Amino acid sequence: MSDVKISPSVLAADFGRLAEEIQAVDQAGADWIHLDVMDGHFVPNLTFGPPIIKSVRGVTTKTFDAHLMVTNPDRLLDTYREAGADIITVHAEVCDHLDRTLSHIRELGCRAGVSLNPHTPEDCLRYILDRVDLVLVMSVNPGFGGQSFIPTAVDKIARIRDMLDGREVDIQVDGGITAETAPAVVAAGATVLVAGSAVFKGGSVDSYKQNIEAIRGSVKSL
Ligand code: DX5
Ligand code: ZN
Repeated sequence: MSDVKISPSVLAADFGRLAEEIQAVDQAGADWIHLDVMDGHFVPNLTFGPPIIKSVRGVTTKTFDAHLMVTNPDRLLDTYREAGADIITVHAEVCDHLDRTLSHIRELGCRAGVSLNPHTPEDCLRYILDRVDLVLVMSVNPGFGGQSFIPTAVDKIARIRDMLDGREVDIQVDGGITAETAPAVVAAGATVLVAGSAVFKGGSVDSYKQNIEAIRGSVKSL
């Protein structure tokens, strides 16, 4: 499927050179830029928030795809919008009022995403299907890059694609995506592939380009 999008996760970038790394994957052919926000509560790790996103917003025109791995996403949604996020994805596990949160994200002018941990059943999506622009299926337990792909994500993607019943909603998959794991998730219905360690290898625009092309090439004929 040639219209599959690649969203490199900056979690695997050199944070000391974050702006240059974002420019490098932009030049290397990234479709979106995946920004992993971690709060040390919902996930054990800590990364960055709106000020850092704002500071790198000017270095690319690519879509900023913010994945909020935080316990209280509602508190700062407006601030993420102001910082330059185009897509805001929250975790279903932490949203008591998911319908309201997704509606609020859309009211801000962003695309609204909802993410599910590997153990979270997809049933929680059933009543928000008309409120969501993107479903992010985690194929690792969130918090760290470089983990192994959890294969149960494949059937889950297929079930979500069925549940969407023709709606034009992206299914994004995140965690352990490589040229080896990408074909199965795309065949199941994924349209956006997040990849951190498989893209940020080699430290140059040329190597990032090769890495992105390897993933793209693996799903081209699907
Ligand atoms: C994990 C993050 C991912 C991570 C993926 O919590 O949400 O975006 O960066 O890294 P890889 O592609 O290395 O599994
Ligand atoms: Zn992510």
